[in-house]
Amino acid sequence: MASNVPIILKSFFFILILLNIKSFPLAYHIRTVPLILETFKNRNNNNEDRDLFQATESTYSVLFDDLDTNMHMNNSSYNKVLDHARGNFFAASFANYMWNHKVVIMQKSVLTIFNHEIPPFSNYSVHTRILTWDQKWLILVSYFRLHRENKIVSLGLSKCIFKEPNGKTIRPEELFIASGYLKNDSEKKKEEREDRRQKGMKFVEGTYLAERLFDDEFIKDLNVKNKIPAKL
Ligand SMILES: *[C@@H]1O[C@H](CO)[C@@H](O)[C@H](O)[C@H]1NC(C)=O
Ligand SMILES: *[C@@H]1O[C@H](CO)[C@@H](O)[C@H](O)[C@H]1NC(C)=O
Ligand SMILES: *[C@@H]1O[C@H](CO)[C@@H](O)[C@H](O)[C@H]1NC(C)=O
Ligand SMILES: *[C@@H]1O[C@H](CO)[C@@H](O)[C@H](O)[C@H]1NC(C)=O
Repeated sequence: MASNVPIILKSFFFILILLNIKSFPLAYHIRTVPLILETFKNRNNNNEDRDLFQATESTYSVLFDDLDTNMHMNNSSYNKVLDHARGNFFAASFANYMWNHKVVIMQKSVLTIFNHEIPPFSNYSVHTRILTWDQKWLILVSYFRLHRENKIVSLGLSKCIFKEPNGKTIRPEELFIASGYLKNDSEKKKEEREDRRQKGMKFVEGTYLAERLFDDEFIKDLNVKNKIPAKL
């Protein structure tokens, strides 16, 4: 039966699948398997010698199905890639606590800033590290670096929250301590860390402000009856 299908048609479908490999059903989910394995592998890390602000690097290539009509990496790809890069970051940084306490991570907001396009078929890295945090939110910054020119072309800010399986929020500092960071810190190191946290916070104040667009004052003119804004 299969041998009756013209070779040209077979080739056509083969190429079609190859060109769209990243959008193929389950492709996204299959790519998360290594992240889960990485978390499992790191589950006993004590992070004693690890710097809290250490960046993780994840490497990607722009394939055919990342392209838009402008022939560069499309906007939705950024979010997908950030999702993966964050997974990598968490697996490297907080695997022990996350694995043993079944921590759930949620995203409040993601902001992407494009300074330069990522051209077709180029290789690039995403470098992700902690920017700042408060009593509830952890904010990561991810830099997109084009390999060819070693140029930082874009950046993404991700605002995350950690929850126990019962829904209770885990404060970022609780997470740091439970994961083995901040141990034996001198006063000087504490001050430096607080300095960095405050400096980072200045850059994300706008995200807190933008979230107030959920307030009734701003959504009332949608003229939708009985609407309720969701809360995270
Ligand atoms: C995002 O998408 C729009 C519409 O396709 C496009 O004009 C713009 O160049 C894209 N931006 C990036 C950074 O790819
Ligand atoms: C953008 O890329 C995603 C893959 O990340 C793909 O699923 C989607 O179809 C692409 N959109 C456009 C307009 O090319
Ligand atoms: C991207 O990296 C792969 C190996 O990971 C290499 O084979 C390929 O030539 C690189 N592409 C470009 C455009 O440099
Ligand atoms: C932390 O401090 C304790 C006691 O002050 C000491 O025994 C331990 O070796 C220190 N650990 C590190 C990693 O410096």
